[in-house]
Amino acid sequence: MHLPVLKEEVLDFLDPEPGDILVDATLGGGGHSSEILKRIMPGGRLIAMDRDHEAIRRARLAFKDSEKGVTLVREDFRNIKRVLSGEGVEKIDGVIFDLGMSSYQLDDNSRGFSFMKDGPLDMRFDTSSGITAMDVVNSFTRNELAEIIREYGEEKHNNLIARAIVEARKRGYIRTTGQLAEIVSGAAGRWYSRQKIHPACRTFQAIRMYVNAEMSAVEHGVEGALGALRSGKRICVISFHSLEDRVVKNIFRREKKLGHVKIVTKKPVLPSRQEVYGNPRSRSAKLRVAERV
Ligand SMILES: C[S@@+](CC[C@H](N)C(=O)[O-])C[C@H]1O[C@@H](n2cnc3c(N)ncnc32)[C@H](O)[C@@H]1O
Repeated sequence: MHLPVLKEEVLDFLDPEPGDILVDATLGGGGHSSEILKRIMPGGRLIAMDRDHEAIRRARLAFKDSEKGVTLVREDFRNIKRVLSGEGVEKIDGVIFDLGMSSYQLDDNSRGFSFMKDGPLDMRFDTSSGITAMDVVNSFTRNELAEIIREYGEEKHNNLIARAIVEARKRGYIRTTGQLAEIVSGAAGRWYSRQKIHPACRTFQAIRMYVNAEMSAVEHGVEGALGALRSGKRICVISFHSLEDRVVKNIFRREKKLGHVKIVTKKPVLPSRQEVYGNPRSRSAKLRVAERV
């Protein structure tokens, strides 16, 4: 099982009990799901979603012993309302979103998420539909690329990078993560020489977020989940960068003003130093929690 980020904190906030109906909107490697499952049995039900076929396939094998309580759904969490009504569930006792990509996805070069491993430029969570990163870098205009890289990567050197991509594709189709990482490093590398992050990090994040329409999925997904929560029950959202965290914070604030929720975490909860040491992926995690009134 995947090492779940902020596991103890999430379990404390959700406080799942036997018989509860919980939703894991981002199944991934099943780390949070398996912990929740232990707490809601007997009598509980876990609905675990992921857009990634591979995550669902892996979980089918992992959860086979306890499958009575688990429903695995390959869906975009933006459709959480539809998924719940399809499953005959009206109200839920808690929900977790652990955003972004899983380490399985990052480590698999065939998925094209990593600038550290060469592979086809794909980056889709759902490999059966939608445009790929390859489509984006080879067919979008310079302005479109610059805008995506600025907006979703918060990359100051977006124009330089977009120009370099457009120049490079005149010499031939850009097919791999290695090619893209090299183009971006060539364009912006010198600005990153004293920084800890790789020059291609923000550009890869931006293209991934665009390809998977991640920001709008979070908006719709979190709103849908809040609508389904039973009074007194909680939503936990773990995000990994400031853009996502801001969206979550704003939704919670808006819903608070409307009198729908109480904000449980005034400031986001961060992983302990010990957790970051044991699981570097948790480094930039921020957990926000709200409770349905
Ligand atoms: C960080 S991982 C989750 C890890 C999981 N909590 C664990 O402990 O193993 C995020 C997962 O969410 C999935 N995901 C991202 N956006 C999604 C969306 N809009 N709908 C459904 N799944 C999504 C990704 O495919 C990935 O598997």
